[in-house]
Amino acid sequence: MCGIIGRVGDGDALEPLLTGLENLEYRGYDSAGVAVQNGAGIKVQKRSGEVSELKRTIDGDPPEGEVGIGHTRWSTHGPPTDANAHPHTDSTADVAVVHNGIIENYATLRERLREADHEFTSDTDTEVIPHLIQQYLDEGYGSEGAFRRAIDELEGSYAVAVMLSGDHSLYAARQGSPLVVGMQDEEFFLASDVPAFLEYTDDVVFLEDGDVAVVRPDGVEFTDVEGNPVDRERQTVDWDPEQAGKAGYDHFMLKEIHEQPTALAQAIEGRTDPDAGAIDLDGFESGTFEDVERVQLVACGTSYHAALYGSLLLNAAGVHATAHLANEYSVAAPPTDGGSLVIAVSQSGETADTLGALRRAEREGARTLTVTNVVGSTAARVADDALFIRAGPEIGVAATKTFSSQAVMLALLARRIVADRRGDPGTDLGAFLAELERMPDRIDDLLETSHAAGIADRYLDSDSYFFIGRGLGFPVALEGALKFKEITYEHAEGFAAGELKHGPLALVTPETPVFAVFTGEEDERTLKNAEEAQARGAPLVAVCPEDHPATEIADAHLGIPDTDSDLAGLFANVQLQLVAYHAADLLDRPIDKPRNLAKSVTVE
Ligand code: G6P
Repeated sequence: MCGIIGRVGDGDALEPLLTGLENLEYRGYDSAGVAVQNGAGIKVQKRSGEVSELKRTIDGDPPEGEVGIGHTRWSTHGPPTDANAHPHTDSTADVAVVHNGIIENYATLRERLREADHEFTSDTDTEVIPHLIQQYLDEGYGSEGAFRRAIDELEGSYAVAVMLSGDHSLYAARQGSPLVVGMQDEEFFLASDVPAFLEYTDDVVFLEDGDVAVVRPDGVEFTDVEGNPVDRERQTVDWDPEQAGKAGYDHFMLKEIHEQPTALAQAIEGRTDPDAGAIDLDGFESGTFEDVERVQLVACGTSYHAALYGSLLLNAAGVHATAHLANEYSVAAPPTDGGSLVIAVSQSGETADTLGALRRAEREGARTLTVTNVVGSTAARVADDALFIRAGPEIGVAATKTFSSQAVMLALLARRIVADRRGDPGTDLGAFLAELERMPDRIDDLLETSHAAGIADRYLDSDSYFFIGRGLGFPVALEGALKFKEITYEHAEGFAAGELKHGPLALVTPETPVFAVFTGEEDERTLKNAEEAQARGAPLVAVCPEDHPATEIADAHLGIPDTDSDLAGLFANVQLQLVAYHAADLLDRPIDKPRNLAKSVTVE
């Protein structure tokens, strides 16, 4: 959680820092701040609220200098006040620090520093870091030595960037929270994520846990905390900065919903051969999954719904598969051994709960695989293997295109696992792949013809919103409800269609519209469940093909194409994304940055 940015180079540091913070706001937006070095000491400006408010504060008195750090916060220790905003400094304001993560031993360190007369002005765990560095400076260590000594004492998870008065370098360290260095000619960046500086460079080095980077005006040095050099690959990311902007849409979320055709085309490109009935997953030799006895998928939030979708596809094909909420998996995991393939599904690849589950699986001796959007992410590096969904940057906190791409990637993976175990791809694979290849164009059509905005308007003042589905329609119902509640702040729940009558039906009134997802699997039963709700007065919105029997009784209809039942739910999901988006827009909610949430949750 939280976004870090740092910049070293000629000319003004403030503009790239503020651009970076705006690009990182999806990581948290409780408060924001910058510290800039102007030759006459460090100037810090910070406040509660979003980056736009920080910019208004700064306008009257912009700090000048070539080196700086910045931060946008999602609170963990202490409420989002001005005092708790980063950067934090020591008592002399000679050391400024931005931090993402949690310092677990901060209470002990703070006590020790207090006894040595250090005064603290915030409730944060972060504030111990500048004081610790200051202590080592006072003991005679140079900037770099003091930084390394301090970092060595920290326990927990952190990405830290530090600036010292009179020193034109930045010092950074990573342990459990992401950090990436961007380089172009003689300008260097530090950030929690690549989109922070994508307007300036796409040339990057991802830090690994235990790494320290010293960013000097003439280059970057990568070492471990003791100063031993480490070799880190310099790579070019192929995200274009335009993609990271809003491209004329009112919100990132709407843009990302409309990017789904492209995202899906990228996800399957080069990986499918309908004529040969083959799936080529980058670098995975044929037969690579032949020994897999069972699959466990671990994930959180929207990614969990994609994981559930994947597990249902695997089970239907005869592979024992279970989906687990990653935070529960670490306390209540099923038996795991060398025959288990544990798949972590994570857009960011940085979700702490998911990483915890992945590490547990590794300890148990399972084979591990990450399905993620972010090359170089921690999950991609921790797991034995990684498959990238290639969805491009997703900025809206509510995940949209990455859900579709994850589900499609898992559908391909499921078919591939089945083919490897069986030793042949099966007769229907070619037809499925052909249907998959039609998907981007068909989603384009759906986006152009959707009536979701009208339906959102029609049911806007309801008490509660129910989403139901059966089989593969169930994770779609869960995801439809999650999207709706995340961005509208209205109550919404997803249910297995058959479960309505076992309790939730008690809540059904004419003020609880029921969105029913029909995927072609046992639709008659789902229709019966939907009718049971309708009989209690609930308006029924059927998400199904045009000529489906549900359209005859439904109060409203959202169309999906007639397609393979393994894919139908993904079209329905796009309609439900649009309903949530338009409802939130009508309610004037901050769609891209819903209250209390953050895109990347790097704390457990
Ligand atoms: C946060 C976000 C969700 C997201 C979840 C998992 O809670 O608000 O939108 O689905 O994290 O994120 P991941 O990056 O692991 O997919």
